[in-house]
Amino acid sequence: MTQIPLVDTAVHHRPQDLRDHLALGFTKTLRFCADTFFAKRYGHRAIVLETVAAVPGMVGATINHLKCLRRMCGDNGWIRTLMEEAENERMHLMTFVEVAQPNLFERLVILGVQWVFYLAFFALYLVSARTAHRIVGYFEEEAVISYTLYLKEIDEGRSANVPAPAIARQYWKLADDATLRDVVLVVRADEAHHRDVNHGFANELAGMAPAAAKAPYPEHEAEIRLAA
Ligand SMILES: [Fe+2]
Ligand SMILES: [Fe+2]
Repeated sequence: MTQIPLVDTAVHHRPQDLRDHLALGFTKTLRFCADTFFAKRYGHRAIVLETVAAVPGMVGATINHLKCLRRMCGDNGWIRTLMEEAENERMHLMTFVEVAQPNLFERLVILGVQWVFYLAFFALYLVSARTAHRIVGYFEEEAVISYTLYLKEIDEGRSANVPAPAIARQYWKLADDATLRDVVLVVRADEAHHRDVNHGFANELAGMAPAAAKAPYPEHEAEIRLAA
């Protein structure tokens, strides 16, 4: 059975310049919209937001891949890391659709948001990859906070601690009697890792010293790539 890594939920990158402030301001605005729209419907919130969270990794991987082809240079491991992040976020989505079902309105929101967010994030990444990674770092800080609140809902009995979906037990190698609480814990650990990776990439692009150690990444089942 997998060991669920401990998460430091208080990690925050203090904005260093205007770009960082813009990235944080944008993230906080989206957080306000999500809080207004979903309130405490954490299952639905997770589904809609994970459809967004799975986009930046694939955009970053695509653009870095194309850049490396043009420049005929190495990628320093960025492409695989970003593709892995996108796949991991998609598995979060596949897990939470087993827990809650999006309604018709949410499906329409997902459609609209994907068009806007994919194109906007692609354009931003071309203009400033550093800002794009900083935004993802801040998104992930918020994801860690949201999943911590989801845990509180479960612990205080407002959300049922149902058995973990089979897809989640396989992907995170959880015990047969694992519950939704275990799933939220490993998802939160994934988000903490993405947070530190993306802030690290932004720091590297800004020529700053590498960030402190990254939050440990939970173990994931490789087989899922064939099965999903
Ligand atoms: Fe996620
Ligand atoms: Fe994430």
